[in-house]
Amino acid sequence: MRLKLNGITIYITESYEEMSKKTASIVLAQVTIKPNSILGLATGGTPIGLYKEMVYGYKSNGVDFSQVKTFNLDEYFPIKKDNEQSYAYYMNEKLFNHINISSENIHIPNGENVNTKEECESYNEQIYSCGGIDLQVLGIGNNGHIGFNEPDVSFEARTHLVNLDQETIEANARFFESEEEVPRQAISMGIGNIMHSRKILLIASGKSKANIISKTLFGDISPNVPASILQLHNDVTVVLDQEAAEEILQREELQEYIR
Ligand code: PGA
Repeated sequence: MRLKLNGITIYITESYEEMSKKTASIVLAQVTIKPNSILGLATGGTPIGLYKEMVYGYKSNGVDFSQVKTFNLDEYFPIKKDNEQSYAYYMNEKLFNHINISSENIHIPNGENVNTKEECESYNEQIYSCGGIDLQVLGIGNNGHIGFNEPDVSFEARTHLVNLDQETIEANARFFESEEEVPRQAISMGIGNIMHSRKILLIASGKSKANIISKTLFGDISPNVPASILQLHNDVTVVLDQEAAEEILQREELQEYIR
């Protein structure tokens, strides 16, 4: 099902697999139309299927990533790049090792640089000097974070060092041996960077995201729900699976489309 509401296009798919395929078709079309696209990428559980489909697009359909540049949203701090829980490691494993992207075109905040101020400034500068992000992929946290922009965020912020919320630490503990091992800080693009992307692609899967998706798309625009600022962006596509769409499908605003 496809709905269009105030500049936001929403696709509701049957399953996680379909959500991943739909999202990949949008990303792969972007790369096909503009081979030197600047892609903003996300980590976490949600985009794993997307990356699998992108690898398939490269291996089976010859989609060419040789001119593509990427900027990841965030990285834990401090963390070594070879730590299996680092986002640098994740991206290599899930995507970069399997497509023909050049290593110099890959950008991820460096969680090893103790001079975080310098790291953040240089990340902003690199995004700027590439001409900005064409298509930014976003997951969403249960608390409405995008990147690691936690509730009470400043909507203007660029790349910065953030203290992770307890809820985020608990949600991400599933990837670590124990909760104590989850780094307490991260370097994250700010909402300012995200909102300057030309296109945004937000993906969510599963029941646990149903409430925050409803607040993001239909609630007040508030720093308490960082993703709600996306209502003010003029080119947002949201791809959901059935479970993540559960609450929005109940909303009055959508009934005329559903009937
Ligand atoms: P998830 O994380 O994809 O693992 O649910 C999303 C996020 O926290 O941004």
